Amino acid sequence: MRFLAHFSPFCALDLSNMTKNIAIFASGSGSNAENIIRYFMDHETIRVALVVSTRSNAFVLERSETLGVPFEVFLRDEWASGGANVLAALQRYNIDFVVLAGFLAHIPDAILHTYPDKVINIHPSLLPKYGGKGMYGDHVHEAVVAARETETGITIHYLNERYDEGEVIVQVACPVLPEDTPQDVAAKVHALEYEHYPQVIEEVITGLL
Ligand code: GAR
Repeated sequence: MRFLAHFSPFCALDLSNMTKNIAIFASGSGSNAENIIRYFMDHETIRVALVVSTRSNAFVLERSETLGVPFEVFLRDEWASGGANVLAALQRYNIDFVVLAGFLAHIPDAILHTYPDKVINIHPSLLPKYGGKGMYGDHVHEAVVAARETETGITIHYLNERYDEGEVIVQVACPVLPEDTPQDVAAKVHALEYEHYPQVIEEVITGLL
């Protein structure tokens, strides 16, 4: 239990029952997951309580362990069969918000219905461009370079039943130069993700957006 005493020890504000718990869903490396965990490490009212992955060898699990965040693995068939075990885990950890950070499985309706407007995703392009099935990670940046786009960026959005079509919260753009490789574009997009995603999560959760 934590108490904050800004003015006087006799007028302390107990924030412990106002804490919002985040679960991060991540399938791969998890550099965004790590950045988000670090951002909220000393936060007064928001904490990352759980990391969920679809692969037992995903590097994000090593990051979670190093940072002291519990993790759970649910293989693809658990998601495809309705996600009852995932939902039970979210409830066991008292999760209030779900944050997707490089997560590749379909989110079951049961989770979306239990967490209305409380599941957030980040996509590495300016949706609706380069969204939809098969468009994830480096595939997006390769397609952006192949199409000779002059800008790309990130989209942070609420998740709904359809891939990459939920209500947009924020988009941030960056230039694509003629000489940029897909790796150059990926580096620019990751930099935008690290800068903006934790703050947007914080603003959504604290009701500022
Ligand atoms: C991120 O760029 C994220 O936007 C993207 O996967 C990457 C994960 O990187 N997500 C999607 O493509 C979802 N459609 P990370 O594992 O290093 O955080």
